[in-house]
Amino acid sequence: MSPNAFTSEQFTPGLSSATPRAGEGQHHISLNDGTRIPQFGLGVYKTPADETAEIVRYAAKVGYRMVDTASFYGNESGVGDALQDYPELYAVTKLWASDLGYDNALRAFDESARKLRRDVIDLYLIHWPMPKTGLAVESWKALIKLKNEGRVRSIGVCNFQPEHLTQLIEATGVKPVINQIELHPAFQQKALRAFNESLDIRTEAWSPLGRGTGLDGEIITSIAKKHGKTPGQVTIRWHLDQGNIVIPKSAKPERLDENLDVFDFTLDEDDMKRIATLDREDGRTGPDPDTASF
Ligand SMILES: NC(=O)c1ccc[n+]([C@@H]2O[C@H](COP(=O)([O-])OP(=O)(O)OC[C@H]3O[C@@H](n4cnc5c(N)ncnc54)[C@H](OP(=O)(O)O)[C@@H]3O)[C@@H](O)[C@H]2O)c1
Repeated sequence: MSPNAFTSEQFTPGLSSATPRAGEGQHHISLNDGTRIPQFGLGVYKTPADETAEIVRYAAKVGYRMVDTASFYGNESGVGDALQDYPELYAVTKLWASDLGYDNALRAFDESARKLRRDVIDLYLIHWPMPKTGLAVESWKALIKLKNEGRVRSIGVCNFQPEHLTQLIEATGVKPVINQIELHPAFQQKALRAFNESLDIRTEAWSPLGRGTGLDGEIITSIAKKHGKTPGQVTIRWHLDQGNIVIPKSAKPERLDENLDVFDFTLDEDDMKRIATLDREDGRTGPDPDTASF
């Protein structure tokens, strides 16, 4: 167990510092296939496999309504254990880069669904476009089959640039519901957000907190002080106020509580203008989707 491991007390009902009201006021976002997704959820990248079930159960108990995992994260089984207790949680997983291709994708989905112990997965995403492999379209056709068979409710992508999206749609006529992309105050992705929106594809922000870096900057901290909130809460609110779907990760109960407690305030125009100035062309922290290799 990591030093962050939960104690049994932290799972005892009534001992959470988040009141059950903390998540009240959460919204759903409508998707282009007629379904809806909770706008706020929990990311579990780097959440240790042996702690994942407890962390997801805790999150669900205090009010999280969605969990975002991936076969690459190695913790789908832990998420699956938590889903047994919280069947209403909206579950998202992803097709890893080395599993691209039609047959591979169908096999990888079977494995993910088995680990998640769900007959129907709410949302299945292609994790990276890997343009050099030329396998995105074949993989997308497999996801379309899974959707047509009712094994997944919605299908989407991550890290797709405009040309990757256009290629999928031209080849199949089926639009992803979501494009999950790196997006935080230091990398605001205005052009890609607008492109997604022009196609009726919702934008979901990964590393919404910039992995915790940049939260101590002057602009975010002064806005936080003004609202009596933390820098993390201001950053999550900034996503929500723009309509992004947002999935902050934490493996600590007090931060899971903190990150959920964002539905009782909004940012004003001045706050939004100040945060807009934090955008940087070189603000990307993860791989470039055009050249990523894994
Ligand atoms: N599709 C993709 O390619 C892709 C790529 C990356 C991530 N994702 C998804 O997006 C989710 C979120 O992204 P992420 O995990 O990379 O980064 P993130 O959510 O921006 O940040 C997580 C980091 O910030 C810390 N943190 C959490 N809440 C905080 C708070 N209120 N104040 C200060 N620090 C805080 C966490 O530490 P503690 O855990 O110690 O609290 C962790 O180190 C992932 O978990 C995953 O589900 C998708």
